[in-house]
Amino acid sequence: MSKDRFQDRVIIVTGAGSGLGEDYCHGFASEGGKVVCADIDEATANRTVQSLKRSANVHIAVRCDVTKAHEVERMVEETLHTYGRIDILVNNAGVIRRRSLVDTTEDDWNREIDTDLKGPFLCVRAVVPHMMERGYGKIVNISSVAGIVGCISTAYSASKAGVNGLTRQWALELAPHGIRVNSVAPGYTATPINEKVRQTAAAKRIGEIIPLGWGKPADITAAVLFLSAKESDYITGQTLAVDGGLTTTVDMGPEYRTIDK
Ligand SMILES: NC(=O)c1ccc[n+]([C@@H]2O[C@H](COP(=O)([O-])OP(=O)(O)OC[C@H]3O[C@@H](n4cnc5c(N)ncnc54)[C@H](O)[C@@H]3O)[C@@H](O)[C@H]2O)c1
Repeated sequence: MSKDRFQDRVIIVTGAGSGLGEDYCHGFASEGGKVVCADIDEATANRTVQSLKRSANVHIAVRCDVTKAHEVERMVEETLHTYGRIDILVNNAGVIRRRSLVDTTEDDWNREIDTDLKGPFLCVRAVVPHMMERGYGKIVNISSVAGIVGCISTAYSASKAGVNGLTRQWALELAPHGIRVNSVAPGYTATPINEKVRQTAAAKRIGEIIPLGWGKPADITAAVLFLSAKESDYITGQTLAVDGGLTTTVDMGPEYRTIDK
């Protein structure tokens, strides 16, 4: 694989201070990209920049809460001021609260929908005019298996299913401008978002249900980079599940599969 797929490309990654977002930043930077590491937590965004190769004058950290339109607009202005262009946006910032339907509060609903669904809308609305001017752009939305099958919680599932719908709508609307929009739906991947889960018995059960077990950040990064690169230019409006087979199966167990042997 070419080591300079993102040479001279400017990439905004939201939620870049931790977990998957941080891993994409390393992937883009290692293939020549200039990365804008945006996060609500400025200290972690800075930490990501410092950990990237050639950090001092190539990549920047920006504090941005994706739920606030004015902060998103400032992130875009800062990117344009520094680099004069935006080629790729990865809508990755996300939050989750694992609660049953009846325990889900209005605050839970608002927080998850605001971050996981409204956030991508605000970011796409802000970057698209600049991509349109150049007649090219790539947008990768980070969805979840929870947007495809029921496996987590109310507001999270709603927001991620919404992201898949937005991906199709934006792909249609933006294709005439050369802008491709796709989603990656990660399965269970070890990051800080599921640290608590990994300390419970649920982690083992999850690993057993998924045909290929738990994923690693690098598995998700490979798909995000592919959908951000020129090689995927004929793909738009798709949601790619990178989930070790989780959404392909309902496992009835080996006993069931061999009943007629
Ligand atoms: N790890 C998994 O198993 C998994 C599975 C499916 C989907 N995802 C999705 O992947 C994305 C990244 O998750 P992760 O596992 O790296 O989690 P993480 O908790 O490690 O990282 C999330 C990052 O988003 C940032 N963030 C939160 N709210 C924000 C806001 N309002 N504005 C800007 N930044 C904000 C956090 O500060 C953090 O740095 C999320 O959208 C998540 O829903 C993760």
